[in-house]
Amino acid sequence: MPKTINVLFLAAEAEPFIKVGGLGDVAGSLPRALRALSNEDIKLDVRLVLPYHPAVKADNLKPLGMFSLVRGAAEIQVEAFETVLHGMPVYFIGGEPIRANGSVYSLDANLDAEKYAFFSFAALELTRQINWAPDVIHGNDWHTALSMYASLTKRWEEGSRHVASVLTLHNLPFMGPNVSEIVESYGLKLAQTDLPDWARVMPLPLGLWASDAIVAVSPTYGKEILTQEYGCGLDEFLRSRGESVSGILNGLDTASFNPADDTALGVNFDINTLEKRAANKGLLQERLGLPREPETPLLAMVSRMDVQKGVDLVFAALKNMKKSNWQAIILGTGDPKLEEAAMKLQELFPERVKVETRYDAGLARQIYAGSDMFLMPSRYEPCGLSQMISMRYGCVPIVRAAGGLNDTVIHNKTGFVFEKIHHMSLVAAINSAFKVYAEREQWQAIQRAGMAQDLSWESSAKKYLELYQSIIKS
Ligand code: GLC
Repeated sequence: MPKTINVLFLAAEAEPFIKVGGLGDVAGSLPRALRALSNEDIKLDVRLVLPYHPAVKADNLKPLGMFSLVRGAAEIQVEAFETVLHGMPVYFIGGEPIRANGSVYSLDANLDAEKYAFFSFAALELTRQINWAPDVIHGNDWHTALSMYASLTKRWEEGSRHVASVLTLHNLPFMGPNVSEIVESYGLKLAQTDLPDWARVMPLPLGLWASDAIVAVSPTYGKEILTQEYGCGLDEFLRSRGESVSGILNGLDTASFNPADDTALGVNFDINTLEKRAANKGLLQERLGLPREPETPLLAMVSRMDVQKGVDLVFAALKNMKKSNWQAIILGTGDPKLEEAAMKLQELFPERVKVETRYDAGLARQIYAGSDMFLMPSRYEPCGLSQMISMRYGCVPIVRAAGGLNDTVIHNKTGFVFEKIHHMSLVAAINSAFKVYAEREQWQAIQRAGMAQDLSWESSAKKYLELYQSIIKS
C-alpha cells in the first residue's frame, strides 16, 4: 500500500476556473503536477480549494451542503461545492462575504479582508466537515495566509494534531490589510509573535509566522526577500527563519504552451523546424499593420502595464533608439498613465510601434511566436512566466537580473540579461542582442538553447514533495 500524503492547496484563483494573473497559472498547474508524482510508494492526494467568486466558471458542481462559522454573536453560512478536474477534487467555498465582493481582487481593502478571512477559515473547517484530514496545508499569498495562522493557533488552543504548513510567496509587497478585528471576531487571538509591530495585524506576515516552510517562487527571489531592498520590512524576520525560507521555481504548462500544436498560430514549428517560424513574423506584422520586413528585428512586450514590470524603461529605451532599425509591439493593460505613455510612443513612431491596450491571449501567443526579442526589464519579478513562454516559442528574452528572470535566462546563451534599473542599461542589452541577431547561426543557437530548456512543472513539483516530506512530523 502506498503511503498517502493529503494536501489541501488553497488559492484565490486557479485556471481553468478563474484567472487574473500568474498565481492563477501556478494554482492551475502545480496541484495536478504534484498528483502526477504519485507512484507505488507514495500517493499524493492534493485537493484544490478556491473561493466561489461570482465569475468562477465550473461545470458539474455538486453541493457539499452548508455549515456555519461562529462570528461574534452571529453565525455565517458557508456553502461548499465540489467538482473534479482530471481526477482531482476541487472545492469551492461560497458565502455572503464572497458574494459581496464581485471581483476576485477588489479596490476596497476591507471587502477583500472580509472575503479572504472568511475563505481561509471556512476552507479549514471544510476539511473537518468532509472528514478528510490534510497532512499539509499549502497556501498562496496573503489571501489564504490566515489558514496557516488559524491552523497553528487552533492546534495550540485545542491540542489538535500537527498539520504541516507551507506558504508560497508570489508577491511579498502585497500583505493584505489590518485584520485584527476580523480575526478576533472569528474567535481567534492575535498571538505574540516576533513580527514587527505593524505586521502582526496583517494576514501575510501572520501566515508566514505560522508556517513551517516559506517558499518564494524562484531561488533568486528566495534570497532577495532576505535583503532590505526587497524584504518590504520583513527581511529581518525572514532572515531569522533561516532554512525554513527557500525558493522553488515555478514551471510552465508545456502542454498548453507548445509552438508545435498551438492552434492560435498561423504556422506551427518546433526546434527542428525553426525556419517555419518566419511565417509567423510576417503574419504578425500584417495583422498589426507593421511594414512586412523579415530582417528588421521585431521587439515585443506582453505585460501588465505596471511599474513593477519596468514598462516605463521600455518606453524610455525605445525613444533613445531613434537611429537604429527595429519594430516593436506592446500588448497589455493596467495603469492608465502607462497605457497613455505607450500610446504616445506609438504616435512618436507610427511606422514601427504598435500598441494594443487589451487582454488578448491569442494575440499574445502570436507575438511569442512571431517576434524576435521579448522585453522584460522588471524592477522585481518573483518568478515571471512570459520569459519562459517566449523562450519556448523561440523569442529571445532580454531581461533584468531580478528574481525568476535571473534563474531562467542565461546571458548570451538563452537570452540577454542586464543588472541596473536604468533605461540605458536596457538599451545596451538590446544593442548586444541586435549584434548577435545579425549573425544568423549564432542567433539560432540562442533560440534553440531557449527552446530546449526543461521548463516543465515536474522538477519543481518534486522539490515541493521533498519539502512536504521534510515538514510532516511522523
Ligand atoms: C506574481 C509575480 C510573478 C510570478 C507569479 C506566479 O504574479 O509577480 O513574478 O510569476 O506571481 O508565481
